[in-house]
Amino acid sequence: MSYNPDIPRSRYDNYGNREWTRLEQDGHGELLYQVHNDILKRYIKLTDKVLEIGAGSGRYTKDIVAMCDELTIADISSHQIEFNKSKMRELSLIDRIKAYHVLDVLDMSVFEDSSFDCVVCIGGVINYLLDREKDGIQELLRVLKTDGVLILGAMSFIGASLYHLEGVRHEKNIYGIEATRWLFDTGVQDGEHYQSESKHYVHMMRSAEMDALFAQFPVKVQERSSAGLYTQAGDTALENARNDKELWKLIIEKEIEFTKLQGTLDCGMNIIYVVQKL
Ligand SMILES: C[S@@+](CC[C@H](N)C(=O)[O-])C[C@H]1O[C@@H](n2cnc3c(N)ncnc32)[C@H](O)[C@@H]1O
Repeated sequence: MSYNPDIPRSRYDNYGNREWTRLEQDGHGELLYQVHNDILKRYIKLTDKVLEIGAGSGRYTKDIVAMCDELTIADISSHQIEFNKSKMRELSLIDRIKAYHVLDVLDMSVFEDSSFDCVVCIGGVINYLLDREKDGIQELLRVLKTDGVLILGAMSFIGASLYHLEGVRHEKNIYGIEATRWLFDTGVQDGEHYQSESKHYVHMMRSAEMDALFAQFPVKVQERSSAGLYTQAGDTALENARNDKELWKLIIEKEIEFTKLQGTLDCGMNIIYVVQKL
């Protein structure tokens, strides 16, 4: 199945507050937020010009804006852009955003080559691109300065299939074992092989695929991380741990530490790569 921009656009045009609260309403969201935020803090410099693409409702926008010199926001969904603006207004941060753009990551021609010191693309934009993944990376690197850093986050297939195994079993009973094998072999939910009920057609990735993608470009991988590793404990165990403040503090600390281990890279809900453009 080839990339269809209407899939992410229509999905996120119908999201609002859910995206804003996604990262704090439960333990899973909080783990994702803490791991991403730790990476952002370590790589973004106060002198940087930053692009956040696929910024969505702005959960990270409000943090990134305080980490850098200049922040530009872009998203394919006009609804998410309006929501992000309203949140930044509410937080009195709107004047610190240089510009907002509604655009597709595949066509960022509004930006010249080498415009940014850092490009942040987290939360799964890459998963929607299917046959256009390489073009997406090319465009993200085009707008980045030499030596600049791209922070790219993707939904992880192995992590998602562990967490959603009950859903996989349910859908196997609808679509059959061959479609399920396709999903496990490729990580692709698409209209042809695995027509998931949600019509949420994506390619969930493995770290080996991220490595293969970046191997085609002049970049140096600075860091690989998973995120949402303790999510695998299950919702009940996670919420119980979260209700115990001193245990939760330790879990967050260890989530950040363990997600950097090679052996955990595919086991979380997301995979994050930090690459430097050579
Ligand atoms: C799951 S949300 C993540 C939002 C935010 N980055 C976060 O992690 O909380 C994915 C966002 O990417 C946007 N998006 C998806 N495909 C895109 C594309 N091709 N170009 C630009 N934005 C895209 C969606 O509209 C949505 O706002």
